[in-house]
Amino acid sequence: MILAQGLRKSFGAFEAVKGIDVDVRRGESFGFLGPNGAGKSSTMRMVAAVSPVSGGTLRILGLDPDTDGPEIRSRIGVCPQEDTLDTELTVRDNLFVYGRYFGLGRKVVRERVDELLEFVQLTEKADAMVEDLSGGMKRRLTIARSLINRPEILLLDEPTTGLDPQARHVVWDRLFRLKQQGVTIVLTTHYMDEAEQLSDRLVVMDKGLIVAEGSPLSLIAEHSTREVAELRFGVGEHEAIAAKVEDLADRVEVLPDRLLLYTVDGEETVAKVHERGLEPIVTLVRRSTLEDVFLRLTGRTLVD
Ligand SMILES: Nc1ncnc2c1ncn2[C@@H]1O[C@H](COP(=O)(O)OP(=O)(O)OP(=O)(O)O)[C@@H](O)[C@H]1O
Ligand SMILES: [Mg+2]
Repeated sequence: MILAQGLRKSFGAFEAVKGIDVDVRRGESFGFLGPNGAGKSSTMRMVAAVSPVSGGTLRILGLDPDTDGPEIRSRIGVCPQEDTLDTELTVRDNLFVYGRYFGLGRKVVRERVDELLEFVQLTEKADAMVEDLSGGMKRRLTIARSLINRPEILLLDEPTTGLDPQARHVVWDRLFRLKQQGVTIVLTTHYMDEAEQLSDRLVVMDKGLIVAEGSPLSLIAEHSTREVAELRFGVGEHEAIAAKVEDLADRVEVLPDRLLLYTVDGEETVAKVHERGLEPIVTLVRRSTLEDVFLRLTGRTLVD
């Protein structure tokens, strides 16, 4: 569905995407996980055929965005990072006007608008003005808008950034349904839980490059341990304590507010820490996540 080889994007002398290889297959849900400035949106905009490629090759549905932009845009759906809804129109008219851009007849658009409003649970808000919607409702409306042309690929740039947990789960639920219907989904996110929940496969991006690729589980298995013991000691004590417990874990990370001990059995590791007479203020044992993978690969956390 999407094939990129050595794909690059420059803005003047600055290279935002430095040569990436990506291969998205039909029906899968593919994620780009990375922190601010990684080059996720720059990549998505090239895939959406709205920003020219600076180097390498890119094919979307077998088409070249340089020469087949209009056909590509007619067959994909795009949910940009910032909502670009028309705040002076009602919810319904936002969808209606957008549908008409695609050259669809009035009757067809009206039917699809009703269907999509139902799908994103905005039927009751059909006649409300966009500016009166909550952030979560606006996001759902943007998703509905991106579906009006029945796209073969749906591109979502940070679908839930800025939403509260409840609103995020509603969006996730709608995306699961689309995936079940066979829509190929490509999303970017800097939330590791979103990447884990929604992607069959993902690439971890940092500073314009792909630093790892695989399924969430395979990435965790490859780059982290099964469990992590998070220990918080007094302010400023973490460096010194890290040196005393180094041998108890496969790896120890020192963060400003806690120590992370990477290990197969977190509880057992915590018990050994106690045996050394060390008493953390807060202890948490958990499974490794993609956040740990990112920390391992880049030495930084995803969200700072
Ligand atoms: N139009 C532009 N002109 C100049 N520089 C740009 C432009 N768009 C993006 N950049 C730069 O390219 C880099 C990558 O930006 P991009 O928006 O692709 O990152 P991102 O991964 O989407 O980040 P975020 O999580 O903040 O959305 C950043 O350093 C950004 O400042
Ligand atoms: Mg972005």
